[in-house]
Amino acid sequence: MESRLKDQWVLITGASSGFGAAAARAFGAEGSRLLLGARRVERLEEVAAEARQAGAADAQFHSLDVSSTDSAEEFVAWAKERIYAHSPGLGRLHVLVNNAGGALGLDPIAQGKDADWETMLQTNVLGILRMTRAALPLMLGQPGGAIINIGSIAGREVYEGGTVYCAAKAGELQITRGLRLELLGTGLRVCTIDPGMAETEFSIVRFKGDSARARKVYEGVHPLTAEDVAETIVWVANRPPHVCIDELIIKCAAQAAVQKVHRQGAQR
Ligand SMILES: NC(=O)c1ccc[n+]([C@@H]2O[C@H](COP(=O)([O-])OP(=O)(O)OC[C@H]3O[C@@H](n4cnc5c(N)ncnc54)[C@H](OP(=O)(O)O)[C@@H]3O)[C@@H](O)[C@H]2O)c1
Repeated sequence: MESRLKDQWVLITGASSGFGAAAARAFGAEGSRLLLGARRVERLEEVAAEARQAGAADAQFHSLDVSSTDSAEEFVAWAKERIYAHSPGLGRLHVLVNNAGGALGLDPIAQGKDADWETMLQTNVLGILRMTRAALPLMLGQPGGAIINIGSIAGREVYEGGTVYCAAKAGELQITRGLRLELLGTGLRVCTIDPGMAETEFSIVRFKGDSARARKVYEGVHPLTAEDVAETIVWVANRPPHVCIDELIIKCAAQAAVQKVHRQGAQR
């Protein structure tokens, strides 16, 4: 059976690594047309090539910094041009994956750094708002389209040192819920996928390049992979147009809660 996502335009933020890059390859395998954004353009170029190799009908990329309104709007204007160039007047964005984001540091609030707080709130919260506001005109009038936000189990539970990241992802969850209410009747589906521990560049970014510390996060555990999450993103987007997966939590079997992780060799 032909995929519903074949030839559909899919915009992915944070497509230069981790979930976003894996999602680009996975939508590519469905024959979608991809619009990929992130700050590291040279990485996007590689991901676009991989997505084309996987079967994407088209895969284009452009620089995007979701922490800037100008950049978000410029990116969507570029995306609109690409869509309209392909199908003048008819073009529509079918799927928006708001994935760009991440955590910085594990400082308690008393030692928190403004720059870390501001980046986490800019990307995980304001980034979703900016991208959604800019992209919505390309999606309205097209029942069955999907806005898929990437949250986290951190938006549902809090842990010491993670308070600001947890607050940001709790913000993402409420934005998703509010948007679903606001878009009722448009036929657009608004979803959040909330992963637990997954091995991507997430911890390297959180620990500011300290890869030894990042590796320790996954010691003795078989965490989720970027591909596990990408498969879920595609599955959510690919449901029949009347089906909305409102909220989906995905964790590896070794993780029962944010800080309740079973490690190989550890006492149960
Ligand atoms: N890995 C986990 O354990 C986990 C669990 C739950 C949720 N999440 C969430 O999943 C999402 C993807 O994370 P990941 O695990 O795939 O981590 P990752 O490998 O570090 O990927 C993060 C992506 O976000 C992009 N990004 C960061 N800041 C950006 C900005 N200002 N503008 C545009 N793009 C930006 C990065 O691209 P550039 O640096 O090139 O801009 C990169 O492509 C994030 O929202 C994260 O919070 C991760």
